[in-house]
Amino acid sequence: MKTEQKATNVTWHEHKIDRLDREKLLNQKGVVLWFTGLSGSGKSTIANEVAYKLHQMGKLSYVLDGDNIRHGLNKNLGFSPEDRDENIRRISEVANLFADAGVIACTAFISPYRKLRNFCRDLLGPGRFLEVYCKASLETCEKRDPKGLYKKAREGVIKEFTGISAPYEEPENPEILIDTDKYNVEESADIVIQILRKQNII
Ligand code: ADX
Repeated sequence: MKTEQKATNVTWHEHKIDRLDREKLLNQKGVVLWFTGLSGSGKSTIANEVAYKLHQMGKLSYVLDGDNIRHGLNKNLGFSPEDRDENIRRISEVANLFADAGVIACTAFISPYRKLRNFCRDLLGPGRFLEVYCKASLETCEKRDPKGLYKKAREGVIKEFTGISAPYEEPENPEILIDTDKYNVEESADIVIQILRKQNII
């Protein structure tokens, strides 16, 4: 992953208004809810439901979603290990900016590599990064197959497909674990909201 500083003669500026000022204004903490899991595990759906519930409560959130971001900011990236790393590196930086703006950033990316998820964890710092593991068996995800991609992956039409021909490294110590084989979308979102309350994020 290329994270070295290339530009020279650039200076970091402190601003007059900082995150704490914005958090006071919004009456919430700016954090990243990092949803991770296999394709079809429920990441985007649950992230969207959490954002909906937060909105109803008057809390500001924003969903950054893999499929959508790959239409714009990350349209030049594919699914090789290097491209996935760059995908997650950029999103980590974007999510960090959202959190700095005081927003609850809900990211929904497979993010199969532990190293890159930890890159984001380190970037955000203690208490500001909550890994939400949407756990569902490959069998379940393949049965759901909402986009018909598992079928194509099995047929060899899609290469390097996570869970089939590319790896997924399970989180070892996620802040939140949701078994989406067991809980529906509503229940899953409630689990997240409860933890946000408990941690005084909202
Ligand atoms: S990540 O691995 O780099 O984190 P990301 O979440 O952005 O992946 O994109 C995953 C989405 O892209 C999947 O939900 C699926 O719709 C689509 N996709 C297309 N090709 C692949 C592939 N080879 N592996 C995984 N997902 C793919």
